[in-house]
Amino acid sequence: MMKSQEIRSRFLKFFEKRGHAIIPSAPLVPENDPTVLFNTAGMQPLVPYLMGNKHPSGTRLADSQKCVRTGDIDEIGDNTHLTFFEMLGNWSLGDYFKEEAISWSYEFLTSKTEGLGLDPAQLYVTVFEGDKNSGKDTEAFEIWKKAGVPENRIYFKGADSNWWPAVKNGNDSWTGPTGPCSEMFYDVTENGLGDMSVEEYNQADQKQQVVEVWNDVFMEFEKKEGKIVGKLSQKNVDTGAGLERLCMVLQKVESVFDTDLFETIIGKIEEFSTVDNVRAKRVVADHIRTAVFLIGDGVLPSNTDQGYVLRRLLRRAVRFADVLGMKHGSLFWLAGTVIEKFGPVYGNIIEKSEHIKKEIDTEEQKFRKTLEHGLKEFEKGVDAFTLFSSYGFPLELTLELAQESGKKVDVADFEIKMQAHQALSRAGAEKKFKGGLADTDEMSLKYHTATHLLHQALRDVLGTHVQQKGSNITTERLRFDFAHGAKMMDEEKKRVEDIVNEKISAGLTMQAVELDKALAEKVGALHFFGDKYGDKVTVYFIGDTVENAYSKEFCGGPHVKNTKELAGPSGVWKFKIVKEEAVSAGVRRIKAVLV
Ligand code: ALA
Repeated sequence: MMKSQEIRSRFLKFFEKRGHAIIPSAPLVPENDPTVLFNTAGMQPLVPYLMGNKHPSGTRLADSQKCVRTGDIDEIGDNTHLTFFEMLGNWSLGDYFKEEAISWSYEFLTSKTEGLGLDPAQLYVTVFEGDKNSGKDTEAFEIWKKAGVPENRIYFKGADSNWWPAVKNGNDSWTGPTGPCSEMFYDVTENGLGDMSVEEYNQADQKQQVVEVWNDVFMEFEKKEGKIVGKLSQKNVDTGAGLERLCMVLQKVESVFDTDLFETIIGKIEEFSTVDNVRAKRVVADHIRTAVFLIGDGVLPSNTDQGYVLRRLLRRAVRFADVLGMKHGSLFWLAGTVIEKFGPVYGNIIEKSEHIKKEIDTEEQKFRKTLEHGLKEFEKGVDAFTLFSSYGFPLELTLELAQESGKKVDVADFEIKMQAHQALSRAGAEKKFKGGLADTDEMSLKYHTATHLLHQALRDVLGTHVQQKGSNITTERLRFDFAHGAKMMDEEKKRVEDIVNEKISAGLTMQAVELDKALAEKVGALHFFGDKYGDKVTVYFIGDTVENAYSKEFCGGPHVKNTKELAGPSGVWKFKIVKEEAVSAGVRRIKAVLV
């Protein structure tokens, strides 16, 4: 029986042998792309290269990419749904196309020596039937036939199932590389389905008697705002094979939770449980696994964005742990089991092992403080929004509780209240984050300029790995988050203060210039927010000229005109660090004042 480890490594070896560079998985949270919360497919981190940028590792790549999809969180517990999964993929970036992609897919699935050794007699294939955007894919059909799939097991299907729709952007429209695809399915029934008409095949698909094991996307079109606008500059291949599904099929088990990937985790849950409940075990296993990977990639529980997804998963895990009668605090230990299982493949979760376990434990404790109280309120019939805002109950939790006890939840009411709540907090956040300033009075300007000085001074003292991770300014103080692995020593803090104070006394001018982005980068202006800038950028620099400036940063302003203004009207104020602490693994926070 082939284990997950063997499947992963066979896949990578197979494609390495065929000229593909093996690249590491990108983190779960897309770098430089604030429009999506998580990587949901292997192709997502590669979009710029599918669009034509040169990839440093070449035109043939293969990897095992971590993905998170939380769209159907309430379906977790059936045989195939997961919130976290690994997607095996091989890519051609303007290199090979349908011929190689299809014949290698077939060879890898069926070869006993180099591949998975699946039985060709249990394989079915779908190809695109054609529409106004692209014709019937007879080319793919012919290649499959040549590879060895009987004609009557290749089905033509529509765009619903056989067109990769590109990825979503923030405006809820689809944008990016797109194209027709061809999917491979495996018969998982005991007696075998044999030849099937298209109607019989569709029914078998619906009954999950055939399971999708691989998807080859032939990406040659570009989509903008949901419309296909033409061909890409190159023809690409994007393939995806869900590792968990492959394990399920190869290990001949009924669900992904019965594969070796989940063996130790489910085992541990059973060890801790006093009640047997298959769905609850699966929910806990899935959610803890996802939480471990999310925290490993820098997400922390919070009330917004990725942090809120993580919080919901952990809170739901707590609830289902209770259904199983597990002891409080068990999630900490389960996280350890997940790390043991996946650490050998994704080393970052071993490095952050203590941090991950601690965060999970803290969130469990936090939730437990209000859980009991919230459950009482729920019994009394309190509305879903109050349960959310006062007791931290995610909506789906309330819905599940209601279902169990036959109660009704007014979801529309929840949504109206939630929208009002979000609009209020967004207005607050916008005010706070506009250029990093709470308001633009004198004191804030001073602290904003002081932040630039601090940033550079930190780089001088600690090293150029220091990067801004966040900034918040009030009229009372500045707060600055930055990447650095260790607590600052007193001498280091002192040196940073001295440098900033020296720059204040030197009376340096603060000036802004508009530069081409490329030139701004060339002169070494600091910027750590990826690609959100346009071609022209504003660089604020402290000193006489951009070239010899002490500090230069991409920034929207506003600032003081001269650093001596930071010394206040009396001219004697000094810059002082009042606090230096950790905010998360590898990120420190400084609070500083001018007094
Ligand atoms: N991008 C394709 C998928 O995720 C391969 O199915």
